[in-house]
Amino acid sequence: MTERTIIVAGSLNMDIVSRVQQFPRPGETIQGDEASYIPGGKGANQAVAAARAGAVTSMVGAVGKDGFGQELIVSLEQHGVNADGVAVLAGTSGLALITVNGGGENQIILCPGANGQVGTETLAAFLKKADGAGAVLLQNEIPWAANEAIMRSACEREIAVVYNPAPARDIPESAFSLIHTIVLNETETLAITSIDPFAEHGLHDAAAHLIDLGVQAVIITLGAEGSYYEDREGFVCRMPARKVTPVDTTAAGDTFIGAYAAIRFGGAPGMSDDATPETALRFATAASAITVTRHGAQSSIPSAQEIVALLQ
Ligand code: ADP
Ligand code: NA
Repeated sequence: MTERTIIVAGSLNMDIVSRVQQFPRPGETIQGDEASYIPGGKGANQAVAAARAGAVTSMVGAVGKDGFGQELIVSLEQHGVNADGVAVLAGTSGLALITVNGGGENQIILCPGANGQVGTETLAAFLKKADGAGAVLLQNEIPWAANEAIMRSACEREIAVVYNPAPARDIPESAFSLIHTIVLNETETLAITSIDPFAEHGLHDAAAHLIDLGVQAVIITLGAEGSYYEDREGFVCRMPARKVTPVDTTAAGDTFIGAYAAIRFGGAPGMSDDATPETALRFATAASAITVTRHGAQSSIPSAQEIVALLQ
């Protein structure tokens, strides 16, 4: 199978995480544990997942000139992602300020920084990579206008658009026909279709609704309940999650999406023969099961070898 590039157009964030006993009240100053800096962003995490799963992967997007930007680029490169399409812009990088309290709850402030400036420069970087690309992965952490422009130009070039509408937002109806595969978790499914995936027939009803709107294929992920696939050809697949003891579910969804795209659209050599949706789902399910058994985000994403070993 020939390899096709997976392009990810999306966010890069530095997650700054501190643990506290209790969240501060307005006006209060409290002591936190030593902060950690964790490279993240849904776009960057999905790019790492695709590359680790064996696909030739390029990231396009933007970071700031603030010191974090270079670290975010280096982290991608260390995980095998080509990052020469990531622009370094004046201003700050995307930051996620995360506090975790003694009960394990978190509070997150997302500052988009350079992700919010993504526009024509990133479209141009995408076009440079478009030759020989199998899919482009998009999320909702860059401006919608950039997503839509990349969707349109991907469609013109017969590059599959894999869209993870996270965090959920309204999507213009005209955009659905640009999407090959939409991947949503339970929260995003409810927000975008107004259908509860756990209701009776909810999975099928939500998928059918999205297919009616124009997408080719729908994947709904359900955490420890696994995932559901349905496409326009009427193929349906319910994939249970693997039984593991989760320690940190950060980047589970991102790992799933990157691994799925690598196998389905990237011709990644992780699995022996074809790249049917079912083959790709099984691979993605194994990949994300490994991620939830490890602490961290990008650093918890497994390699193709580790994924294949689990599948044997
Ligand atoms: P998100 O992180 O976007 O909310 P999910 O929580 O639905 O995504 O997880 C994506 C996939 O990761 C699931 O479909 C499943 O295959 C796997 N996964 C998530 N949580 C677990 C878990 N506790 N045990 C095993 N697999 C899991
Ligand atoms: Na993890």
